[in-house]
Formats: sequence, structure tokens, C-alpha cells
Amino acid sequence: MTTNSQRPSDIFHDEDSNTSNNPSFDSVLSTRLSRRSLLGAAGVATLGGTALTGCATSGPAAPVSSLGFKPVAKSTADQVTVPEGYTARVIYALGDPLNAATPAFKNDGTDAEFGNRAGDHHDGIEWFGLDASGKPSDSFNSRGLLAMNHEATTDEKLSSFFIHANGGTATLPRPAAEVDKELMIHGLSVVEVQTDGKAWATKPASAFNRRVTTMTPVTIHGPARGSEHLVTKYSPDGTQARGTLNNCGTGRTPWGTFISGEENWFGYFFRDAKDDDARKKDKQVQALNRYGRKAGTASRHGWESGGSADTYTRWNNGAVAASAKDDFRNEMNTFGYIVELDPYDKTTTLRKRTALGRMGHENATFARAVAGQPVVAYMGDDARGEYIYKFVSAAKWDPADANPANRLAAGDKYLDKGTLFTARFKGDGTGEWLELSMDNPVIAGSSYFEFKSEADVAVFTRLAADAVGATRMDRPEWGGVNPKNGEVYITLTNNSARTVATVDSANPRVYTDLKAGKEQKGNVHGHIVRMSQKNPADDAFQWDIYLFASEADSDKSQVNLSSLTDDNDLSSPDGLVFSKATGLCWIQTDDGAYTDKTNCMLLAALPGQRGDGGAKTLTHGDKQVTTHVGKPQTPATLKRFLVGPKGAEITGITETPDGRAIFVNIQHAGENTKMADVNDPSKFESRWPANAGYGAGQRPRSATIVITKNDGGIIGS
Ligand code: FEO
Ligand code: CA
Ligand code: CA
Repeated sequence: MTTNSQRPSDIFHDEDSNTSNNPSFDSVLSTRLSRRSLLGAAGVATLGGTALTGCATSGPAAPVSSLGFKPVAKSTADQVTVPEGYTARVIYALGDPLNAATPAFKNDGTDAEFGNRAGDHHDGIEWFGLDASGKPSDSFNSRGLLAMNHEATTDEKLSSFFIHANGGTATLPRPAAEVDKELMIHGLSVVEVQTDGKAWATKPASAFNRRVTTMTPVTIHGPARGSEHLVTKYSPDGTQARGTLNNCGTGRTPWGTFISGEENWFGYFFRDAKDDDARKKDKQVQALNRYGRKAGTASRHGWESGGSADTYTRWNNGAVAASAKDDFRNEMNTFGYIVELDPYDKTTTLRKRTALGRMGHENATFARAVAGQPVVAYMGDDARGEYIYKFVSAAKWDPADANPANRLAAGDKYLDKGTLFTARFKGDGTGEWLELSMDNPVIAGSSYFEFKSEADVAVFTRLAADAVGATRMDRPEWGGVNPKNGEVYITLTNNSARTVATVDSANPRVYTDLKAGKEQKGNVHGHIVRMSQKNPADDAFQWDIYLFASEADSDKSQVNLSSLTDDNDLSSPDGLVFSKATGLCWIQTDDGAYTDKTNCMLLAALPGQRGDGGAKTLTHGDKQVTTHVGKPQTPATLKRFLVGPKGAEITGITETPDGRAIFVNIQHAGENTKMADVNDPSKFESRWPANAGYGAGQRPRSATIVITKNDGGIIGS
């Protein structure tokens, strides 16, 4: 079902490919598991090499115990608004050069060389510090690397129209020159930033600057390495692949590398209507359907139509030649992973960590690493009705690995061997992690799908989670671990497909909301689930709902269950990051449901702990469902900190170690602009960041902003 809350970029979450009848908590099958035991007004960025001053120690970070800023009001203005006393500046936007040889971005659709420019749709972002001599540092505050995702592009029909002079070609075949550009604006970037104590800026000529695109060679690691299902014309032994795609959330490993989740990659592949027949009885037909690629599905951009070179034909996921070594029938199986990058060394190769499963990955968030204990990461699969996952490493944490000589070798040690689990929530506020491995007889003996090896579990993870009866959630997005108590928060952004028939205790709301007079149904505004465990590696957990997102004036007994007010109401929580410096929980929205009243936003929270509220029973006609809700919010515990420009989603956030600067990504401002209006700025939905004084041209651009407090204080205090 399509709702009027749908944004252009939302359609790729709507595959609804989970047709499993997985039970809600109260009719759980008994599965026997084997257990192996601004900027409104402010700012033009100062680009270029400003001299570094010695502000390595501008004061220690300190936990923030009260939200010391005035809340930002809801707004539909085409600007970034931050609280009084703060300044936001744009520092890094789509097309900005990443080396000295690349010309400035003209922003009129004629620019080229995107392999040396910032990519599009800035998403998750992480800080990696440098000291004055350019060595990795966890304490220096005035120089560092920002590693980030460039998830997608603003498009209509097939074309990423803002990067083409006249909007590009919206019919098949796509011209090779347009495809070539689009292939290069996806991926990752690493950019050096520094401050002279007055203003932050990127260093466009830094030797650390790096782009990773859909074409960058990568290596396959973990159980799927060498699998028959990863064999392609490019890599007949199934160990190599090209590129990373639709990278959404990010993370930082305990050993200091960058983690990126591949999310809506399936949408980029074409499958011919007759491909099921061409594949004969290949079990992958079931998997392709489960991962959103039914036979006869068109691709998002038509890249497969760009020509006869592999660059283009790799996006045709059909069995078109004699064997998998002769075509790209398995190309889609090389996407859908958590990928790891060493941001400090651009000569190293990106590694796909298949042990963490294949899905619509949002991010991976790590529990605090404890000496002698496994490394644990939590993850969400962002599509309607998908699952929450946890990875537990086989290797036990050695604190000496916090600063390893070879960071990716540490990644091999902790991320290539381990066990994946998926979550089942029960109505009594408990839950269990169900093992996804051949040691679980439910998987090894499954009649639902043929699992022959751990490689099969790694590649066809959603089917393994179906088989064990995981709980279908309302689109799991970012996870974050509260540094204070280890509790895990996972945003469930919304679910237009949730119905009275399918509500359960952990996904308990289904209601009708009005947007500009039109009805929106399901779990319109989303919620945030919170889990606690004695030890992160335990199979059992306890949970409650930390926050129910809602409009302030909604019914407090059925919808506005967290008592939100005009100072903190929100829709569709997506990004969620705990500050290491301050302990604040930052919540970002990707909303299409409340945008009649406000653009997307960033809120700061002082969260409590699981169980600080109580049980609540919701009534849906003659059906009742009891959930567990955290304590009601007040502006003292949750407050709006930023509202973005028109059409934008607020995506990643990261900070300097002292908590005195935060970097926030603003994605797809103006995404509701029509392709036909690409050269008529008066018709653009947004002209940000040009209207804030940044860069050439008028076309809207995704961008990174930096926010500082005018008195130099800690953000949020
Ligand atoms: Fe890319 Fe789930 O947001
Ligand atoms: Ca509404
Ligand atoms: Ca997201």
C-alpha cells in the first residue's frame, strides 16, 4: 500500500518482500535451538588551508546532565535552524573537489570527475582524529578525517537529474556518459577537516582524501568468500567484487575502522521477465524474490542499458550466458553486506564482512569491548517487516587491538568468524536471540529453504531468519549503544503495512493520521525499541519501547504514548547516535508523514533506562495488545535541536572527542523538485545550501555541516 507520506526515496523500502508468516510473539512456535553455548543566516565556509593552531586540548569532554539550549521550533523554512547561541556552517557538499587537480564544482550539471569529488546523498558519518603530525589520534580535537556514506541520488524516473545539464535521460537505453557519472556519485568518501580555532574547513588537497564508488575493487571476507553464489564473470572464484552501493548507516569498530551498511542495493538490478525459467530450478529464485527482485523487475537507473561493457551489463542480474562465470547472475549477491574501510590508509582495499549477514543493512553499532569477551555488534534490516540482528565474534577482545598496527587485520580477527543471531520479542517484555547457523537444526534441516553451508546463511540471511521465526519489525534503522549502561536502542522508523491483524507487543501501534487532510495508516510515525542484556553475548534480553514518535496533539492513550509536546514531537526516527563525549542520545528523522508541519529534524535526548515506565494496553477494535513503554518524555529529557531545509532528511552525526563540534549530514534537500524544472531555480523545492551562501549554482546539494557553540562550549550543554 502506498500512503501519501511516501517520499521519492522511500519507494525502495517498499518492496514488502517478507511474505513469511512469522508469528507475532504470542503465537510463537517452539523452535529448539542448539546453543554452542544552518544555517539560516550564518555561514559561508572558509575553504582552503588554514593554519593549524594548537587546540589539541580545548578542555575535557564531560557528560551533559541537562539540555541547556532552547528548543528549535518546528519549521518549513528552507534553511538549517539551530538553537540560539549555536552556529552551523556548510563545509562539504556534493561535488566538492577532493584533490588539487579537480576544478571547483559549477553545480550546473556539466561537472565531471566525480571519482575525485564528494559523492551525493551524504548519510552516516564518523570522525577519525589526527594529531598535528597526521598520526591517528583519539584525543586531538582540531584535525581529523570525516568518513561518510554517499547513499543514493535525487532522481525521477531513471535519471539522477541534478547532475545532468538538462536533467538527463529518463527512458531506456540510458546514455553511457550519464551512467558513468551516476556510478561515481555513489559510495563512500574520506575527507580531511581542520579548524584554526575559528572556523572548520575541509582540506581539498589532503593526501588522506579518498573516494570509494560502485567501481572500486573490494574483497569478500567471512563465510561467503569463495561461495558458488558469489561467482561472477569478474571473480570466477567468488572472492572479489566491485564497489559498494546504497550505503546508509555507519559505525566505528573498537579497533578504529569505519563500518558502512549496504541498504537498498537490490533496486539497482534488472531482472528479465523470463529469468526464473532461465535459472531452471536454481534455489536462488526464491532468494531473489525474498530480496526484492522478482523476474520482470526494472532497475532504479537502467544502468544495465548503458552499453555492452561489463560496467553496464553487471547490473543485469539474469542468467544470460552459459554459466555464472560468464555473466552477472550472481552480481547482486556481492551486495548487501557490512563493509569495512581503514580511513587512515587509502592504499588498503575495502572488505565485505559477510559473517554479519546479507540484508538491507542500516548500520552496525558495537557494544563496549571487554577484555576476554566476544565483540558484539547490533544491526537492523531496514524494510517493512524485517528483523533485528546481532553478531557475536568467535575471537575474544584483546585491548591491545584498540590501536593495532594493522587495522584491517584486526577486522579479519573479529568480523570474519562468529555467530549471527536474530531477535524474537515476547509479550512479557523479554526476548531471545535465535542462532543463524548450521549448528541450529531448524536451519540445517529447514524445509523452507535449502541451507548447505555457513556461506548460504551469510548470503541468504533473511531466509534463515524467516526459518527460525524472528519478529517482523516496523523497519529497523540505526542502532546505538548507551555508553552509560550498555542498553541497545534501535529505531523503527514507521510501517505503513502494519495492520490490526499483525500488531504485536513490540510493534503495537496501528492508527490513522491526517496529513494535510489525507489519511495515513499503519505505524505512521515509528518508535524506538530498547533492549538490555546482562552480557551482550547472552541469548536472552529484556526490552521496552523507549520512545513512541508522534505529533504532539495526537491521542495520548493510543498514539502519543510518550507524551510529546511541541518542543519535542517528531515523526520517523532514523539516525540514532550516542555521544561518547557527552552521553547525549541524538535522534534524526527521515520523515514524510509530518512534513506538512515541519521539515526533518535532529533532537537531543537524556535517555533513562529500560523499565523506567510501565505496561500499557492499546485497543484496536476488539483486539488488545499490551506493550511496555518507557517513562513519558518532557522537554527536559528530549528537545528539538535542529530543523533542516525543505525536502531534506537529517542523516549522520559525529563529533570531535571533546564534544565541542558536531558534524551533521543533510541529505536530499529539494528531492521533490521535478526533473522538468532542473534549470528553473524558481521552481526548486529547495535551493539549500546555495541560499546559505555556499558554493556555485542554485541546485540543491547534500552536504555536511559543522555545528559549534558560539561560546566554545560543549554541544547540548
Ligand atoms: Fe537509508 Fe534506512 O535509511
Ligand atoms: Ca499528521
Ligand atoms: Ca537511514
